[in-house]
Amino acid sequence: MSTASTGRTTNQRLLTWIDEMAALCKPDATHWCDGTRGEYDRLCALMVEGGTFIALNADKRPGSFLARSNPDDVARVEDRTFICSRNEDDAGPTNNWVDPDEMKARLSSLFDGAMRGRTMYVVPFSMGPLGSPIAHIGVQISDSPYVAVNMRIMTRMGQQVLDALGDGDFVPCLHSVGAPLEDGAADDPWPCHPEKYIVHFPEDRSIWSFGSGYGGNALLGKKCFALRIASAMARDEGWLAEHMLIVGIESPDGEKTYIAAAFPSACGKTNLAMLIPPAGFEGWKVWTVGDDIAWIKPGPDGRLYAINPEAGYFGVAPGTSMESNPVAMRTLARESIFTNVALTDDGDVWWEGMEGEPPPHAIDWRGREWAPGANGPAAHPNSRFTAPVTQCPSLDPVWDDPAGVPISAFLFGGRLSHGFPLVYQAFDWRHGVYLAATMGSEATAAAVGQAAIRRDPMAMLPFCGYNMADYWRHWFNLGETVDVAPAIFRVNWFRKDDSGAFMWPGFGQNMRVLKWIVDRARGRIDALESPFGLVPRYRDLHWKGLDYPAERFGALMEIDRGAGVADAEDQRALFGQFGARLPDEMEHQRRALAERMAAAPEVWRPDE
Ligand code: OXD
Ligand code: MN
Repeated sequence: MSTASTGRTTNQRLLTWIDEMAALCKPDATHWCDGTRGEYDRLCALMVEGGTFIALNADKRPGSFLARSNPDDVARVEDRTFICSRNEDDAGPTNNWVDPDEMKARLSSLFDGAMRGRTMYVVPFSMGPLGSPIAHIGVQISDSPYVAVNMRIMTRMGQQVLDALGDGDFVPCLHSVGAPLEDGAADDPWPCHPEKYIVHFPEDRSIWSFGSGYGGNALLGKKCFALRIASAMARDEGWLAEHMLIVGIESPDGEKTYIAAAFPSACGKTNLAMLIPPAGFEGWKVWTVGDDIAWIKPGPDGRLYAINPEAGYFGVAPGTSMESNPVAMRTLARESIFTNVALTDDGDVWWEGMEGEPPPHAIDWRGREWAPGANGPAAHPNSRFTAPVTQCPSLDPVWDDPAGVPISAFLFGGRLSHGFPLVYQAFDWRHGVYLAATMGSEATAAAVGQAAIRRDPMAMLPFCGYNMADYWRHWFNLGETVDVAPAIFRVNWFRKDDSGAFMWPGFGQNMRVLKWIVDRARGRIDALESPFGLVPRYRDLHWKGLDYPAERFGALMEIDRGAGVADAEDQRALFGQFGARLPDEMEHQRRALAERMAAAPEVWRPDE
């Protein structure tokens, strides 16, 4: 039956696409998601009945559910992720590429009949506040009710989006778990297909995802749209779609400064987004705008304005505790969906790194009996919580402002145990883009010596939807088009001393670094020039409430000539991949670093 008569939308392109996809995927029924609470409750109940969801103890974890995925469908699949631009060079050496016509033919045969026996959900969603000039709309088709309910948390989803869309443009996102149900066949609690494809067509601005029901593979608003497709849109339209958290730092006199920060996975991004200022910072407050993605556009006053395109957190559960991140713990206290964590005997959830003793008995993420010390971790290391941002106690009241928030500084960080100081500021925008492009983390936790750096430019390696060299060029250019470019910083919370102990306490104490960054971004304080960039002296940081000796700070900020020279040399491998497409400026910056390092003392310290 044609959907043209639904009355939900008159958007002809949308209606035609839905009809075509229904004809291809052959679902038993089509359900247009209205985004209401009633619909959410009905879909959750349906999944409880079908075994996909377990309702958690309503006293301990009200309105919450646990899902266990197929053990072969537990994470994003980067080797099955493709950027299918017409021209292979436009995808670049860091992306998988297949010719778009060939890929569409391959996918069309996989999607043919893929939804037999299932309902096709039509999920209209807005990335960003409805009607914001920074926001964009997508429509996801999916045969997974798990996806539909997660999308209601992660995005603004439902009829109001179709109303805002009108006859406008949207990003079509087609998703199937790839597990058609033949007549009378019993369903699997977590249907999926062994062969997975996460495919982006940047010129069409469309997404096709097949075979996985998990996270970024299936919730297509997040990594697929908000980063890969949006980064290509941003290149064409003069803005930025970044893998960044956004926080507002409020001083005791009410001045608010917004920063956006990029870190690779597993560097404590959610903790920074929900930081609680430590003792010594009475009257200070850190407001959460976003924890993962920032869309940033030039505003009418020539500054850059950012929104969090999402409306929920899809956070890694293990390691989250009242100690490491009490704000996150409060956020997920109710009305949340947990995937692949452990189930306790009293019907609550548990994961490694949650405070207190492990439960004496639990059911692990695979649904097996579990006791401490047996059978590996109770929760999968990539187990997740899905929770609405509106439950976050530190949510910035302006999080939903269509105008976004003005960004004063960009931070780029990685996990480096040797050779890299706590914080330094770029000399200027171009140097900052270079610092961001060469960021990374240690490839492995090497037991001894200097581990190789796994470069993750702007934390966008798996998420840049086009040639990374063009992306860098876009960043260089953008600094020239805005009137007030944000200041750029590199940070590293993870330096270790010779005994292997972390040199910096991290977590809430990172506030001390944030305050210096705010002071610098506002031009209130001068800085010392080091071979890497501009750094604070001991006296420039606010130390009230923390006993951290000047001598230790000197060691934390140390720059080692040998390590710096080696790093500049090592960056050649990164840049070499891009051939003639590499902006000349990158190589200029790399040489300038090599020259500064060659002229530097063997060990540089801010107190010298
Ligand atoms: C994420 C990631 O899941 O960056 O956010 O991997
Ligand atoms: Mn992320």
